[in-house]
Amino acid sequence: MEYANPKLILGSEIIEPTKIAWRSPSNIALIKYWGKYGRQLPKNPSISFTLDAAFTETEIEYQSKAPGTAQGIDIDFFFEGQKNDAFQQKIEKFFHSILDVFPFLGQLKMTIRSSNSFPHSAGIASSASAMSALAMCLCSIEHQLFNPFESDEAFLRKGSYVARLGSGSACRSIFGGLAVWGETGEVKGASNYYAVPVANQVHEIFHDFHDDILLISKEEKEVSSRAGHGLMDENPYAKLRYEQAGRRLHHLMQAMKMGDLERFGSIVENEALTLHALMMTSNPSYILMKPNTLHAIEKLRRFRKETGHPVYFTLDAGPNLHLLYPHASVDAVQTFIKSELASLCEKEHWIADQVGQGAREI
Ligand code: DP6
Repeated sequence: MEYANPKLILGSEIIEPTKIAWRSPSNIALIKYWGKYGRQLPKNPSISFTLDAAFTETEIEYQSKAPGTAQGIDIDFFFEGQKNDAFQQKIEKFFHSILDVFPFLGQLKMTIRSSNSFPHSAGIASSASAMSALAMCLCSIEHQLFNPFESDEAFLRKGSYVARLGSGSACRSIFGGLAVWGETGEVKGASNYYAVPVANQVHEIFHDFHDDILLISKEEKEVSSRAGHGLMDENPYAKLRYEQAGRRLHHLMQAMKMGDLERFGSIVENEALTLHALMMTSNPSYILMKPNTLHAIEKLRRFRKETGHPVYFTLDAGPNLHLLYPHASVDAVQTFIKSELASLCEKEHWIADQVGQGAREI
């Protein structure tokens, strides 16, 4: 499955300045993508809830380059209204890397404006929302210039494919509800190249599930996800881990189809701790959890035992805790967060989020 298409180039026509904009959310993995090969392909299948409140909005204004201008990537990038050279360089590098997919990128002058709904450096992984919003903008430009898509499904699939090339987990943010990325016999049509939506295959209790994010620390991570994936190549547990992820996806899908929250929670919590165990068993080893991450986990487990509310945690590749629970428990859980957990967060900062609709044009 490749999209390289050298025919997607412009002739002598003049492209007048045109704007396109997309909003795309973050996502939280239940079975984690950790370890990759080739051109951003995952070593195991993953599944995530698509979120709602944590999103990126990206606008691209594009036009023909002035006549006689050399081929090459020509962008100006603004983040939250300010010119941002560090992000611009990353995007230039990304656009260079996808010239086989979108050859016309070398023929356009583009101004890109992007902003997040959550404060910058809040410790929330923004690559999923940022790369998925950017990928959808590029697919919209392709659509406007060449009209190559036979269906909405084909359009979203390419968006997911391109988002993946930017950041693996971003490919799952395109679709609402729940998405699976990576080959697995569990889901028809699942692929290593793009994600597929699976919300309609699970019990309705998961359709309006909550994910409240405790911002335990907003410090920049010591080891990036990219470096963490790389360390998996030499991790002695890697092979077992990839097999385990496949089995867990099977069991998680079964639990989610039946609406079995206890089983769901036990798999999801195990999976979060496995991710961090893999970091601790990498060489060099590293720890991204903070003391307050563990305090919050202990308090959460006690709360669950004492009240019976089915609230479970997961972690991303950082110290922040995501609390997952059904809508019926929202008042009890949020009262608990305010009274017991907010004090463990940096500046008492936490974000109430829930399952959302995926990327959309704005
Ligand atoms: C722990 O998608 O951020 O969040 O492909 O190198 O950009 P790159 O990595 P990234 O890794 C995400 C890792 C994770 C698990 C997950 O989202 O599945």
